[in-house]
Amino acid sequence: MRCRICEAALAPFVSFGRMPIANGFLTEADFATEPLFELAAARCEACGMVQLLEQPAPEAMFHENYAFFTSTSRSMAQHFGRLAEGVMSGYVEGDRPFVVEIGCNDGVMLERLARAGVRHLGVEPAANVAAVAQSRGVQVLVAFFDEALAHGLLKDHGPADAVVATNVMCHVGALHPFVAGIKTLLKPRGVLVFEDPYLGDIVEKTAYDQIYDEHAFYFSVVPLSRMFAQHGLEIVNVEPQAVHGGSMRYVVAHKGARRVSPSVAAHRGREADLGLDRPATYEAFRHRVEQSRDALVVLLEQARGQGRRVVGYGATSKSTTVTNYCAITPRLVEYISDTTPIKQGKYSPGAHIPVRPYEDFKASYPDYALLFAWNHAEEIMANEQAYRAVGGQWIVYVPKVGVLA
Ligand code: TYD
Repeated sequence: MRCRICEAALAPFVSFGRMPIANGFLTEADFATEPLFELAAARCEACGMVQLLEQPAPEAMFHENYAFFTSTSRSMAQHFGRLAEGVMSGYVEGDRPFVVEIGCNDGVMLERLARAGVRHLGVEPAANVAAVAQSRGVQVLVAFFDEALAHGLLKDHGPADAVVATNVMCHVGALHPFVAGIKTLLKPRGVLVFEDPYLGDIVEKTAYDQIYDEHAFYFSVVPLSRMFAQHGLEIVNVEPQAVHGGSMRYVVAHKGARRVSPSVAAHRGREADLGLDRPATYEAFRHRVEQSRDALVVLLEQARGQGRRVVGYGATSKSTTVTNYCAITPRLVEYISDTTPIKQGKYSPGAHIPVRPYEDFKASYPDYALLFAWNHAEEIMANEQAYRAVGGQWIVYVPKVGVLA
């Protein structure tokens, strides 16, 4: 496998072995046919882009049973509301503005634009989440975005003031044609606004669970700038976001069309300080990942050895990497509590831990809750004061394995 961006050699730095599809929650009948692939991350020796070595076909990940609904968390809904306001106040200009969102999911962002009467279109390949968006009054096209589709959109709707893509770009293995399509769609002062988990946070927090099938890329400012330059585009602003355990919002424009904010140079500096351009940083990361796995297994074995009940909290995609890499079975974690109806009554990918409704957690508190949804820690801790009040404890593993006192 060669770099998806520049075709140079890739230097693998962490391997997790054979893994299932992270969002592939399944029934017992499907255990025997569950697809597996080799999960490993690598860094391009030439352009520096961190990426997966192997990625399953998109159709295996994003389909009519896609289990991810953006609006399942209150704080995420608020985040996307603020993003919508920011797009409307910052980048929507002139007569009959037009905003395209690629991967609009259940429409939580575009709903604001629809209500404000802004011309918009969501492009969403997963039919089930797209149907929810449509029921909210959002215009949606059920399709994978690519260059050909971009030309069709341009013809049918005209150019866009803004193209928005949150937690989408890092999923797209064939990034060059995707970016070429976006460039085609943008007005001369149009912008691409996108957010994805940030490599700096992943490395700093040893958040290895961000590495799973859907995430083809682990972006940072320096390699992204090189990639956009090849398309006559440039990053004009970057803004760290707390969501998804540490994300970055990038604003990209045609080269020279907009003023470049000092935040871009500041983040290049931060990336150099973090050593994101040095192989030794990734060696050290792998070492910390192995230590994290070993420490988590010891902690869970100890708890079970003492006859304590451990329940997973939040059947996140990220948890699939953790449960499979650490070989966490239902012997160690009784079940995973999750509020998403489509996941309930199914089993977690690979590890086959039952996923049960949150009501089960409330009805009989365990001794320990293993916080798989650590990216929502603030919201969850605020909601779970009653659990703590009766002596319930939290096991965490990002940034370090431990029990929250
Ligand atoms: P998410 O944050 O989207 O992580 P990932 O991108 O790794 O899938 O997933 C959060 C999951 O946790 C989702 O299935 C909903 C669930 N959840 C709860 O069960 N309870 C909660 O209080 C919160 C905030 C989330």
